[in-house]
Amino acid sequence: MPAEEFDIVILGAGSGGYACALRAAQLGKRVALVEKDKLGGTCLHWGCIPTKAMLHTAEVADSVRDGARYGVSAALEGIDMAAVHSYKDGVVGRLHKGLQGLVKAADGITYVEGKGRLTSATTVTVGDRELTGQHVVLATGSYARTLPGVEVGGRIMTSEQALQVDHVPDRVIVLGGGVIGVEFASVFRSFGAEVTVVEALERLVAVEDPAVSKALERGFRKRKIAVRTGAKVASATQDDAGVRVELEGGDVLEADLLLVAVGRGPRTQDLGYEQVGVTLDRGYVPTDERLRTNVEGVRAVGDLVPGPQLAHRGFAHGIFVAEDIAGLEPTPVDDTLVPKVTYCDPEIATVGLTEEQAREKHGEGVSVYEYNLGGNGKSQILGTAGFIKLVRSAPDGPVVGVHMVGARMGEQVGEAQLIVGWEALPEDVAQFVHAHPTQNEALGEAHLALAGKPLHAHA
Ligand code: NAI
Repeated sequence: MPAEEFDIVILGAGSGGYACALRAAQLGKRVALVEKDKLGGTCLHWGCIPTKAMLHTAEVADSVRDGARYGVSAALEGIDMAAVHSYKDGVVGRLHKGLQGLVKAADGITYVEGKGRLTSATTVTVGDRELTGQHVVLATGSYARTLPGVEVGGRIMTSEQALQVDHVPDRVIVLGGGVIGVEFASVFRSFGAEVTVVEALERLVAVEDPAVSKALERGFRKRKIAVRTGAKVASATQDDAGVRVELEGGDVLEADLLLVAVGRGPRTQDLGYEQVGVTLDRGYVPTDERLRTNVEGVRAVGDLVPGPQLAHRGFAHGIFVAEDIAGLEPTPVDDTLVPKVTYCDPEIATVGLTEEQAREKHGEGVSVYEYNLGGNGKSQILGTAGFIKLVRSAPDGPVVGVHMVGARMGEQVGEAQLIVGWEALPEDVAQFVHAHPTQNEALGEAHLALAGKPLHAHA
């Protein structure tokens, strides 16, 4: 078959790949978008969207369980997993359909189904089709890792299988207290399971500010989620009766299900990358800030590129590459300004530097302020506890980090990222009137306090 020519060939149609395709098409480029599985990738089908749907079910279950506290007489009879899946799959299905419609309607995108392989710096081969492009974008994403001695299958699952469980297990062990671990721990607990999280490091969500980890651990304790930090899993075995998890040091834990959440690795093997000369570093594809690999004409976006593995970073990478190729000279994506939300209960939302990172970067002039949600009317109404911690670079410097814990705080991260991204001073933020009673008001009040004029808080 003769080679088919494009301006850009994109390998992988997840968040990074499809965002790149859509933006490039808007800019008049001819694009081939290659996908072996489903348009939308991990985020839409096996990650963000289905997990957050399950977390919403978990929140509904908790509301029913806690109804009496708000004067509603109700009893939680149980979780109907078939109905949970039908709700979750309905959300995913509608978004998938919408996305398919967008790609189809975009002028200039040729969607190619099949497993692609990089066969030269300008070519992706899919079966007997050769797609050539002046630019190739690697967007093959990531996969759930496991550990030696922990074989996935049956009762031992990664998040992908855990999204399909057909019943609520009585006892769950979660291996890994990172983002996936704490989100699933939260879901299983709300569904009624006994949950133990085992984390090798000294605290949960160890990339976050320690104050955040502490608040999460406190929240989990209140919810009777057992947390074993500083505990490393050595091996896991299973039989018909359950799973046995052995910790280094000899302790043994037993459960009906083991969720393995020890990180996601880049999907870069057997795709021809190394043969074409693309440098890999522990499987990741290093790039410069314009997301160019060491091979001329080949770029990489999303989870392949070392940094936070987040769908919205993938979108931003994809859009950046399309615009850069089109000559628009966009601003590179700055990982420190990528907001992070972990949707467990209590929820975590952060952007910018932790206190420790700020001290490393800005020295001893760094100051912090913690606003307790106890002083916030809407948080009281929702019955949530938590805080907003602000990190300031110097006594008269801008806010360089915002760290929030509490129900629904993810929805507050938008203003927080503008504050950090625009290097706002507390005084700049304090002069904006924040709506009462909202949780957003807590963000306003935290800045009022940092500007020296606290309202419902101490200075
Ligand atoms: P992670 O890197 O966040 O956490 C893995 C945890 O496992 C680490 O804390 C590590 O210390 C621990 N661990 C490793 N080996 C261990 C052992 N032998 N024993 C005990 N603990 C051990 O990875 P995770 O949670 O699998 O998530 C993968 C990626 O997916 C993350 O980069 C995350 O950003 C992304 N993600 C983001 C979400 C969000 O933004 N809400 C939701 C889900 C995933």
